[in-house]
Amino acid sequence: EKGGYEHFMLKEIFEQPRSILDSMRGRLELEAGHLNMGGIRAYERKFANAERILIVACGTSWHAGLVAEYLIEDLARVPVEVEYASEFRYRNPIITERDIVIAISQSGETADTLAAIDLAKSKGATIFGICNVVGSSIARATDAGAYTHAGPEIGVASTKAFTAQVTVLTLLAMIVGHQRGTLSDTKLRELMMELSNIPSKVEKALLLDAEIKQIAEIFKDSTNFLYLGRGYNFPVALEGALKLKEISYIHAEGYPAAEMKHGPIALIDENMPVVVIATKDSSYEKVVSNIQEVKARKGRIIAVVTEGDDVIPGMAEFVIEVPATSEALMPLVSVVPLQLLSYHIAVLRGCNVDQPRNLAKSVTVE
Ligand code: M6R
Repeated sequence: EKGGYEHFMLKEIFEQPRSILDSMRGRLELEAGHLNMGGIRAYERKFANAERILIVACGTSWHAGLVAEYLIEDLARVPVEVEYASEFRYRNPIITERDIVIAISQSGETADTLAAIDLAKSKGATIFGICNVVGSSIARATDAGAYTHAGPEIGVASTKAFTAQVTVLTLLAMIVGHQRGTLSDTKLRELMMELSNIPSKVEKALLLDAEIKQIAEIFKDSTNFLYLGRGYNFPVALEGALKLKEISYIHAEGYPAAEMKHGPIALIDENMPVVVIATKDSSYEKVVSNIQEVKARKGRIIAVVTEGDDVIPGMAEFVIEVPATSEALMPLVSVVPLQLLSYHIAVLRGCNVDQPRNLAKSVTVE
């Protein structure tokens, strides 16, 4: 059932071109030039008039929520707050009937996320769910929603569910942005085009597997890792660090690259691997300076860059080249090498990648 792969996690990483496509199938109609998402139709006006959107989730789904914050604020200009469900439910949050709460969950069974939904519902908010498991508790508890079509995810470390969530959230941000007039017809078409090219770009990123395995060999005995990214790639840095922690048991931290100088820079020495997501986007120049800061302290840089980058290869010890895409869509591509890196490191360390210690696929207790 692992389809010839050694682990479910690897199979699921490699399924992403397909699962991303499945998550936009019937929703992104390139030829007709429009977007369709059944779940949102009845709530389009509500979304368009929303004063703010709250997002609740845990773990990797919370990281997808952070990407959505960038997407929705950027494309639709609605203020977004992303909350850990476990904090939200206990901190007496301010919620009104005018709020839309988006709950994101692969399993649809996460206890904290479910409790956050119940709380928001009791205050009259509209709840929109993004779940992978059809008919799950969260899917049933929401007013409306859109399923991700990632297919069953068995590996405890979430991979294809994350990219499917980001795909659905991208479509949502595009629909709301277009409806609100903050996303022009031209920009919408451009993004639709780019989004439809993502599966083949992910396919290309997967070809880096052998190269990434070699990098994994070199760093498999490290005891710490730092992951840095800015803008849309900041949540990707968090996700890369989480993947490494949960399956390889190596301590890793994700940080917005510019925050480094407010603390974590003290950790950098010749033993510290620093994974920097430095694709060509609006913060590229600034990330290049951050790389220089790491280099000056002898940190070992592994950089994820855009194909054809001719600056960073002269600075980083290892460079992983991913295909170019729109800034807003880059997380769908840039996360892939990080999934592979954590996978290979965990395998080389002899870890049980599909069922890491102390973890369960769905966390149904608080
Ligand atoms: O099923 P959910 O998306 O609600 O699960 C949330 C987290 O428990 C989950 O993403 C967890 O962090 C994963 N093990 C991450 O790989």
